[in-house]
Amino acid sequence: MNILLIGSGGREHALAWKISASPLTDTLYCTPGNGGIEPIASCISLDVSNHSAVIDFCHERVIGLVVVGPEAPLVDGIADALNAANIPVFGPSAAAAQLEGSKGFTKDMCARYGIPTAAYGRFTDPDAAKAYIAERGTPIVVKADGLAAGKGVIIAQTDTEADQAIDMMFDGEFGEAGVEVVVEEFMLGEEASFFALADGTTTLALATAQDHKAVGEGDTGPNTGGMGAYSPAPVMTDEMIARVMAEIIEPTAAAMSDMGCTYKGVFFAGLMITGTGPKLIEYNCRFGDPECQVLMMRMTSDIVPLLLAVADGTLSQQSVSWSDNTALTVVLASKGYPGAYSKGSRIENVDDASADENVEIFHAGTKAENGDIIAVGGRVLNVTAQAPSVSQAKDLAYAAISKIDWPEGFCRSDIGWRAINRD
Ligand code: AMP
Ligand code: GLY
Repeated sequence: MNILLIGSGGREHALAWKISASPLTDTLYCTPGNGGIEPIASCISLDVSNHSAVIDFCHERVIGLVVVGPEAPLVDGIADALNAANIPVFGPSAAAAQLEGSKGFTKDMCARYGIPTAAYGRFTDPDAAKAYIAERGTPIVVKADGLAAGKGVIIAQTDTEADQAIDMMFDGEFGEAGVEVVVEEFMLGEEASFFALADGTTTLALATAQDHKAVGEGDTGPNTGGMGAYSPAPVMTDEMIARVMAEIIEPTAAAMSDMGCTYKGVFFAGLMITGTGPKLIEYNCRFGDPECQVLMMRMTSDIVPLLLAVADGTLSQQSVSWSDNTALTVVLASKGYPGAYSKGSRIENVDDASADENVEIFHAGTKAENGDIIAVGGRVLNVTAQAPSVSQAKDLAYAAISKIDWPEGFCRSDIGWRAINRD
C-alpha cells in the first residue's frame, strides 16, 4: 500500500522510519519531510491546507492511508476532508481535535463525565478571571484556551503574577488562542505522558514517556517543544497504566462519542500523578515530539496495521508489543533556541554517530543539500538510543552525540535525570 505522511519534524522522521520498515508499505510519501526523511520516503511539496489538492494527490498516487503528524492540519479539518473522500486517515476530525485545540472544551468534558483533572474556570472577561483568582488563591495556573505552540501556560506564584498573565492574554499576546482563558488549580505530583489509540469503539494502550520541556540543565529556563524524552516513564507502573485507561482514556473515548465527536487517532494524555491518583493536565490529538521518537524505538510490532485499524475501526483485532529496553532521545538544537537562532550551518559525521544498531538519529529541522546535512530549524536532530536501563540508554545517546560535529548546535547534558535518580 502507498502511504502519505504529513509533517516535517523528528516525530515524522520516527514515524517514517517505522512505517517504511513495514512489509505492508509500498511507497511512502511525505510532505514536506526533512533531510532525514528524504532517504526513506519520497518527499513532496503539497499545500496541506488545500484539502482538495491533498485528495487529488491521494487519488493520483493510489494512497491507501494518510498519517497526519502535527495538530494544526487536524484542527483545520484535514481528516474530515479525507474521510469524505473515502481516503483512510490516521487522525481525528476537527470536532474531535478540539480535545487539543480548546482547553475549555476538554475541561468541560472532564467535568461533565467525571474525568479527574484540576478544578477550573473559563473566562472571556479579565475582571471575572481575576475575581476567581482572588477567591482561589495562588499558586494557580493561567492558560490561553487555544493552540499557542505549547507556550500559552503560566504558573503564577502570586496574585500579581496571575493578574499580569490574565492581562497579557487578553491583550492578545497569544492572538486568537487567548480570547478565552482557563484558570485552574495547581496540581502537585510527577508528570508523565501516556499514549493510547482509539478507533471510535475500542481503545488500545500504547506506552508511557516523560519529557524535558525546559531548555536549561535541571529543567530550568524557558519552555521549548521538548529537549529530550525517554520511555517508559518509571512512575507509570502497570497498576497506574490500568487506572489511566479505566479512569481517563476509556471515559474520554466514550464521552467523545456521546458528544457526537467520536475520536479516532492517538490520545496523547499529559498526566499529573498526584497523591490521590492520575489526573489529566491536557490532551494532544497527535503523537508527541520528541516522545514519538522513543515510542517508535521501543515498538517491536509493525505500526502500519495499527494505523490502518484506527482508520477503519478494527482496532479490537490488533495488539502491540514493546521492547523491555528504555529508549532515550536527546534533542540537538540550534544555539539560541527557543529564541532567535541562525540557519544554514553544516552538520557532519551523523552517519558515523548512528552506526551502533541501538542508536537512531531522527532529523527535525534539517535539509539535505548536495549530500550535506544543513540545519534549518530550532530543534534539529534527535539522537535516540535504547538499552536495558535508562542510564545505559543515556550513555549511549551522549556517546553518539560526542561524534557529531556541529559547533552551531547545543543539547542538554542531563536528559533522563529524574528517572536515573529513581534507580
Ligand atoms: P500544558 O500545555 O497544559 O501541558 O501545560 C504545560 C505545563 O504546565 C505542563 O506540562 C505542566 O508542567 C504545567 N501545568 C499545566 N497545568 C498544570 C496544573 N494544573 N498544575 C500544575 N502544573 C501544570
Ligand atoms: N513534547 C511535547 C509535545 O509534543 O507536545
